[in-house]
Parts: sequence; structure tokens; C-alpha cells
Amino acid sequence: MNLKDMFINFFVSKGHKQIPSAPVVPENDPSVLFNTAGMQPLIPYLMGETHPYGTRLCDYQKCVRTNDLESIGDTTHHTFFEMLGNWSLGDYFKDESISWSFEFLTKKLNIPVDKLAVTVFAGNDIIPFDEESYNKWLSLGIKESKIAKTVEDNFWIAGESGPCGPDTEIFYYKGEKVPDVFNPEDDMWVEIWNNVFMQFYKDKDGNVTELPKKNVDTGMGVERTVAVLEGVNDNYKSSIWNDVISLISNISNLPYGGNEKSMRVIADHIRTAVFISADPAGIKPSNTDQGYILRRLIRRAIRYAKKLNIDINSDWEEKIAKLILDKYKSYYKELEDNYNVVLEVLKNEKIKFNRTLEKGLREFMRVADKDIDGVTAFHLFDTYGFPIELTIELAEERNIKVDVDGFKNKFKEHQELSRTASAGKFKGGLAGNGEIETKYHTATHLLNAALKVVVSKDVHQKGSNITSERMRFDFSCDHKLSDEEKQKTEELVNKWIQESIEVKCDEMKKEDAIKSGAECMFIEKYPDIVTVYSIGDVSKELCGGPHVKNTSELGKFRIIKEEASSAGVRRIKAVLE
Ligand code: ALA
Repeated sequence: MNLKDMFINFFVSKGHKQIPSAPVVPENDPSVLFNTAGMQPLIPYLMGETHPYGTRLCDYQKCVRTNDLESIGDTTHHTFFEMLGNWSLGDYFKDESISWSFEFLTKKLNIPVDKLAVTVFAGNDIIPFDEESYNKWLSLGIKESKIAKTVEDNFWIAGESGPCGPDTEIFYYKGEKVPDVFNPEDDMWVEIWNNVFMQFYKDKDGNVTELPKKNVDTGMGVERTVAVLEGVNDNYKSSIWNDVISLISNISNLPYGGNEKSMRVIADHIRTAVFISADPAGIKPSNTDQGYILRRLIRRAIRYAKKLNIDINSDWEEKIAKLILDKYKSYYKELEDNYNVVLEVLKNEKIKFNRTLEKGLREFMRVADKDIDGVTAFHLFDTYGFPIELTIELAEERNIKVDVDGFKNKFKEHQELSRTASAGKFKGGLAGNGEIETKYHTATHLLNAALKVVVSKDVHQKGSNITSERMRFDFSCDHKLSDEEKQKTEELVNKWIQESIEVKCDEMKKEDAIKSGAECMFIEKYPDIVTVYSIGDVSKELCGGPHVKNTSELGKFRIIKEEASSAGVRRIKAVLE
């Protein structure tokens, strides 16, 4: 049996419910492109919301981390990985969490106690030394010399703000002869599991408050743990990767030894591209957001395939993708459902890139007699489809530099422009522009205005989505709305509807619109000349429209649900009847 199944069976035997892996593209959190940790889809529940599966959960979660593409090619980094996790939502805490981790490692994976070491939180001005965890480890038979106390590495938070807390990390010694004293800096000790005691919430200003419940959030990286358990020093030699590497070796007719970096990049990037393009979000290669990451991964894989002299026009990428799809599809249904979509995405992007690659390489050679400035790097991207890391890598081979910051500035401008083009769509989250969608669109403006009156003037829109059946509206708010707040909000929207207020549209300069107090979700996403929709003196927003002419057209407004969306963001679903 493999690690994933063993982990899930173990925690199910301890009263946990297995929850399905969430998509790699977060459903409710526009602030991140991908899920980067097992806990991310669970944030609302760690914040106090009731989870439909109960208070003890476990899963394997697909994670994507792409902030450092250039590091891919070494023995341990991956852009996609699976994270095993078990959670207590206000149920058990440190005692059980540590006991079960220890039991799983020593009884199920049969790791000798001697090969394990741990770190615990040493304490700071705000949170004391985690004596309870320390003593628990001692009682289980971990020697004092194998427990390190640290501050920096023993406090876990995803990014800048959100649920967080002190943690205890478990390390495994890769070598034969285990030293008597644990040194977390020695990279023969590999961190395999992290147990976070998530009892705090850190807001954007750095204030730390207690969460309503004490939770446990743990994470174990599958790739890393399998590699150490199998005793290999290179993740790509473990059973997770060795068949993919063999296949690449077959296709290229080259041995792994001597070609490691290229083969690892191809294996890693194709696997991540498979999971992103199979995701229900329907991501396709593009020049923005998740689509741009997908494009870069595929193009970088192609470039490394060329280095191995693989015939790019052959079906090499399809063979690799099929192996990966077949390997994972029993765990992730979307791979089965979108099998052919994935193959098509890869193939189409390959064809597209191939068309410009040769020309681009010629252009690169022409400009590469000196360091490459940001504008030139952007030109290579924009005209020849060269992702920045391709330019960097080519430049490194020729010992010249690239102005990456200059590129990033140009790139940012470009992203803003393309967002501006779709600002109307983005703002309204409009799926269609039919009559009913248009009504819902106007209703979101009224709801936004009503929440400012009833709940707080600090409420701001965080997103919206409209179908012909309902509207969904996300807004910043630090608490669950009370029944009274919901009722008052509903009444106020209906009052404005009954007042038959005219909806007016004006065109003006963006700065004038802002000065006049018009509300706007993402200021940088709008062009210099904007349209502003006003509903009497109730609401004034920058918006691409379309809207109804008069609020009387909306009928009756009813809130059907109010729930957490992500940290500090609430979501309302409502209908017009
Ligand atoms: N959320 C914790 C981590 O990612 C478990 O390490």
C-alpha cells in the first residue's frame, strides 16, 4: 500500500473523515492563484465555520507553488506536490495530534525512533514556550538531545495574514549513522511533517487575536516523505518519479545521469501542467494569471526537451502526460474527466510555441551581444512568447545579464492593460448579459450600498459572480452577519427597488470619478476614461455595466445564504423573485 492510502486509513481509524482534495485553483479566494497548502481550502472552517464533515478531517491536497521556477531541476523542489494533512476543528489538540503523528511514523511506517527528531516553539513576547508539546515528545521516547527549540521556524502562517500558530516539526535522518544531537540546520535531517496548533488569527496590520476554537493543522509532503522512506537522495529516483524519468530517458535515448536537470524539469513541469489543465476551473495557456503559469511550464518543458534533442513534433509530451494521467486518475477524478482536454492543451501550446520559438531564438541571438534590458526582455515575451525564465536561462548560457525588474514592470503594465480590456466582465463577474443577469448586476450595486449602511461603511466588494439563477457577492467583513443585519440589508435593498430610482451612466476621467466618491474594486484595472453608474444618491460605482434603467425593474430581492468565503471575507447569495 502506498503512503497516501496508509495515511488516510490511519486517520480514518482515529475518527477522521476523509475530505476530497480541493481544486488547484482556489474556488473562493481571488487573492492567490493556486492552493499552496492543505489548509488553504479549510480557512473558513479554521476560522470557526462548521464543516459539513465534522471536526476531524484528513485528506491529500493538490498544491502548486510556482514562485521560484528556476529552482526546479534540483533534487527536491517541485511546482506541484501532494500534501497529506489531518485537522482538528476545535476537537483534539496537542496531545492526540503528537501521539498520532508518532504512532503513524513508528508503527505504520516503521521508522525507528532514533531516526526522528523534532522542533518545538521556544516562545516569544506574545506566545509562551510550547512546554506541552515538548513534554509530550519526551514522554513518547524522543530524547532531549533530539528536540530543538526555535522561534522563527516554529510559527506557521500562510503568507502575511490568516489563521496561524506555533508548530512542531518532525524530521527524519537520511543517513545511516544518526548523530546523537539533532541539528535542524544539517540537511541530512529532512522535515517530513509539520503539526500546527492553529489558535490565532493575524490580521493585515499584524494584530494577533485568539480564534474561536483551537485547531490542529498538519502537513506532510508526499514526494519528500516517499523519497526519504525509500532511501533515495534524489526525489526523482523515488517510485513517484522513476517511471516518468525512465520514459523521458527512452524518448530521448539518453541516460538520466548527465541529463538530470533537463529530465527533472520536463517531468516536473508536464506533471504540473497536467494538473492545472485538468482543473475544473478550465485554465488554458494565456498571458495572464494562472494561464500564464501554465504557458510558462509547458514552454519551459519544451525548451528542455529540445536540449535533449527530442523531436518536438513527435508525441513526446503526450506520452509523458498519459503516463501521469494514468498514474493519478484513480485519486483525482478530474484527470479521468478531462483526459483529452489535457492532451489537447499541451499539444496546442506546443504548436503555438514552436511557431515562434525559432524566430525568437534568432531575435535573441541578435540582441544578445550585450546585457538585455527590460524592454527587450518584454519584447521577447510579447512578440516571441519567451517566458522570462527562458530569456534568463539563455542569457546565463552566454554570460550576460537580464534586467528582470525592468521586465516585471513592463509585464505589470501589460497585465493591467489586458485586465482593463475585460474590466466590465471582471467587475460584474458576468457570465452572460441577458436580461436577468443585467438585473442581478444592478442588484449587486444595491447590496453593496445597503451593506455599507447596515453593517459598516468599511464594507468593500471583494468579488461577485452572477448566473441566471442567482447572484453571489463577496465583501470584506470581520464577522458573520446577524439575522437582524441580514434582514435590514434585505429590507433596504427592497426599499430602494420600490422607490423606482433611475440608474444613470456617465463617462468621465478615472481620477474625477474617484474624486467624486465613486466606489471601485480594483482601481488599477480600469482605463483612464471610465463609466460610472449612479443609482440616485444610493450608489455610485465605476463599472462596465450593463444595468437596468430603473430599480423598479428588479422585483423582490431575497438573501438565501450568508457564509464565510475566506479570511475576513463574507459571501452572500441572493435571488430576485
Ligand atoms: N499548513 C502547514 C504547512 O503547510 C501544515 O506546513
